[in-house]
Amino acid sequence: MALTDPSKRLEAIPPYMFAELQRKVAAKREAGIDVISLGIGDPDMPTYPHVVAAVQAAVADPGTHHYPSNHGRAEFRDAFSRFYAGRFGVEIDPETEVIPTIGAKECIYNLCFAFLDPADVALAADPGYPVYTGGPLLAGAEPVLMPLLPERGFAPDLDAVGADVLERARLMFLNYPNNPTGAVLPEGLFERAIELAREHEFLIVHDNAYSETTFDGYVAPSFLATPGAKEVGVEVFSLSKGFNMTGWRCAAILGNPDAVSAYWRLKTNVDSGLFEAIQLAGVAALDGPRAAIEEMNAIYERRRNLVVGTLGEIGVDVTPPRGTIYVWAPVPEGHTSTSFAELVLEQAAVVVSPGSMYGPSGEGFFRISLTTPDDRLAEALERMREHLV
Ligand SMILES: Cc1ncc(COP(=O)(O)O)c(C=O)c1O
Repeated sequence: MALTDPSKRLEAIPPYMFAELQRKVAAKREAGIDVISLGIGDPDMPTYPHVVAAVQAAVADPGTHHYPSNHGRAEFRDAFSRFYAGRFGVEIDPETEVIPTIGAKECIYNLCFAFLDPADVALAADPGYPVYTGGPLLAGAEPVLMPLLPERGFAPDLDAVGADVLERARLMFLNYPNNPTGAVLPEGLFERAIELAREHEFLIVHDNAYSETTFDGYVAPSFLATPGAKEVGVEVFSLSKGFNMTGWRCAAILGNPDAVSAYWRLKTNVDSGLFEAIQLAGVAALDGPRAAIEEMNAIYERRRNLVVGTLGEIGVDVTPPRGTIYVWAPVPEGHTSTSFAELVLEQAAVVVSPGSMYGPSGEGFFRISLTTPDDRLAEALERMREHLV
């Protein structure tokens, strides 16, 4: 073994399927071709001005310059408690039921180390956000995939999970509105998950990254609003997408106080908490005017309509998603996810994400992100129409 060989756990992480496509994109750009990326889900618009102003004031206060406590500032926990009461009708005890996290990704990864031992199972949606499988693998446990299929409204079939798997399950990851499928919460899903979690004693982790980004009048609920949720689960609420704060790394874990406490215990051994100025920016975001979010959603809704309309014209029929910043579409006949993404790149110089990147059940789909400025998105779609009809 060479001294720089990584651990078996790191080796167990599947290769990054986008690598070859990225290499081709880089080669095209080097050759002077104007490639437009519709791949990444990172809002193109800036963080709201009232949030920027709050962090500017907070950074100037030496009181924020020290090691933050992992329990978080009272202002941050109180703001989440207010926000959950007002927005979701959910009561959160600011002392025991919420603490800050350095983004949802960190929280989900660390939850794996707080709750999984070797041979334990984490149930993860397929397709899904990659940390639901990478986190368990790095923790030495086994991710078991729950396929999300269009004929079930992209809901996992919880009753199809084997008894032996449920026996070994310690965590179940759910995420609605869903990345990458754009699906909103299927009826009865949280209720059934809670029944199973009670019966088989596993913790539900609801990744609430997109509840604020919805269209057509749809309002996304919190998992914690489902009766019994707090007994068996936690919710990770990220400010990244709904508040245009991906770079700030600002999120919180809320819900079951024992689970929040176990996460806190793990975290005190691993990192030193979320910069307090960012916590105060989070307060400004959560307490801020709703109008800022609604304006954002109107922009995404307009872009969504443009994407769905153009895809229809090139023969790709998609049900318009009611949430998230993604359009999840079937690849045309005769293509795989990767071959279609490569075709779009070759012919239109546009990057779309191959669905297989998000898990085996993502094969046969591609994802378009709505986070590209209007003029560039329009140009990308025009090129797709021109070259792919
Ligand atoms: C479902 C889901 N969860 C979590 C994240 C990451 O959130 P954060 O920026 O808070 O780490 C993303 C980002 O794309 C996501 O799609």
